[in-house]
Amino acid sequence: MKKLISLLVVAMVTVVFLIGNASMAQAQAKAKPWPVGDKDKTMKAPGKADVAAGKELWAKHCKSCHGGKGLGDGPKAATLKTNPGDFSAAAFQASTDGELFFRTSKGRDEMPAYDKKIPEANDRWALVAFMRTLKK
Ligand code: HEC
Repeated sequence: MKKLISLLVVAMVTVVFLIGNASMAQAQAKAKPWPVGDKDKTMKAPGKADVAAGKELWAKHCKSCHGGKGLGDGPKAATLKTNPGDFSAAAFQASTDGELFFRTSKGRDEMPAYDKKIPEANDRWALVAFMRTLKK
């Protein structure tokens, strides 16, 4: 009987340990798909966007999470529940300008909305142009 109880205890401790490990591994989730409506998806910058201005805005507002090269390795990235993604990757670059503009403007969960923080649409288009330079 004693042996059975100690076996049960060992089994329970093992289960608790395994569950604990599994939830740790899920600590930072991969971002879910982020659909954008047709109208916003096909939006284009009104003129030639200013990449240099975009770079400055990036350093000020975005780098802390997304990293200087958009690899998702900024100093704040490790504290996020959702991985900010790799902007040099083909999967990211496959998004339309309109999609990047929309996501930057509206935000979602841990990704802040910038339509009020960066109120000039031209500045947000400059950020889109800068994000294109992050392509590998
Ligand atoms: C506090 C951290 C944080 C900051 C600051 C931040 N982002 Fe993000 N960003 C995220 C996270 C996390 C995601 C993934 C969100 C999701 O998918 O739910 C994301 C997603 C995005 C996406 C969508 C990615 C995709 O695959 O299409 C774009 C575009 C983006 N960010 C641009 C920016 C820009 C531009 C700035 C600065 C103006 C910025 N972000 C600042 C955390 C941040």
